Amino acid sequence: MLASEPLKECVEVYRITGRKVLAEKVYEIWVEAPHIARHARGGQFVIVRTGEGGERIPLTISAVRGGEIRIIFMAVGKTTHLLASLREGASIPDIAGPLGRPSDTRTHGTCVLVGGGVGTASLPLIADELVRAKNRVITIIGARNASLLLLEEELAGISDELIIATDDGSRGFHGFAADVLKIVLAREKVDCVWIIGPAIMMKITSNATRDPGIRTYVSLNPIMVDGTGMCGSCRVKVGGETRFACVDGPEFDAHQVDWDMLLQRQRMYIDEEREALEHYHHECSCRGGAA
Ligand SMILES: Cc1cc2nc3c(=O)[nH]c(=O)nc-3n(C[C@H](O)[C@H](O)[C@H](O)COP(=O)(O)OP(=O)(O)OC[C@H]3O[C@@H](n4cnc5c(N)ncnc54)[C@H](O)[C@@H]3O)c2cc1C
Ligand code: FES
Repeated sequence: MLASEPLKECVEVYRITGRKVLAEKVYEIWVEAPHIARHARGGQFVIVRTGEGGERIPLTISAVRGGEIRIIFMAVGKTTHLLASLREGASIPDIAGPLGRPSDTRTHGTCVLVGGGVGTASLPLIADELVRAKNRVITIIGARNASLLLLEEELAGISDELIIATDDGSRGFHGFAADVLKIVLAREKVDCVWIIGPAIMMKITSNATRDPGIRTYVSLNPIMVDGTGMCGSCRVKVGGETRFACVDGPEFDAHQVDWDMLLQRQRMYIDEEREALEHYHHECSCRGGAA
């Protein structure tokens, strides 16, 4: 046994090796995390803590490059703004992972991946595994407008076909990703679908595959704290049963999810979250720093 290995993992420094702004409020960060990179699979996530006593937030592992992992996130609240303020060379004190069950990337036949907004960040690793398993992969990415489209070139390189949709028609198909999915379903036989984006988008889009009975996975994003099945905060209802998204998911059968419960639980701490962000912006302006 390599007695030094666990100790080495305990003292790992998660150094940021690359940082890019991908779109308004959307950041890409590459982090040195060899023990996570070694085991990471499509659909899995990490729990990130930006400082001592800070909140722990889940972020999907978007890609792996040698001993580095990539996370892509939207700055929406205090912790994601803090993360966005870190520059190349800085370190993230605490990252746990890979967590969650990997995506079901067996050979299915033709697979359609649908990404909405920052949910698109989850697609490259899943698409890559599906292609390796000899699936035909059609990727649909949707955004409100052209400037918010993510990973277009990268996903075009991995997928057999990439289709773009924007709500305002500024790029690609004028409409929602759900509309494009319906067109693809009418055009050809599809064996398996992934839909990853905001909960309401996943709920609506997955209706398209319900009647034809196509296996459809969604990646649920309830509030998570420990990410190990201990705290119960990520409780969701799937097929009438209580499941913990961090250990039983985060991917589940879209047609079995109790969407209303998920949407309601996501808003549980909305007042506290608003207060924390206001406090953070106030502290930044007092220090004269960028929020
Ligand atoms: C498995 C999983 C993977 C995710 N992957 C990504 C990703 O790749 N990129 C990305 O931008 N976002 C991702 N999210 C959402 C991300 O975790 C939240 O945006 C983040 O926690 C917000 O924290 P905050 O302090 O900046 O904002 P806050 O102001 O605290 O919250 C803003 C909103 O984010 C959600 N949220 C807040 N805290 C948590 C939490 N601890 N766990 C889950 N959701 C929370 C709530 O809906 C909340 O209303 C993922 C969520 C889950 C569950
Ligand atoms: S995050 Fe605590 S049980 Fe899932």
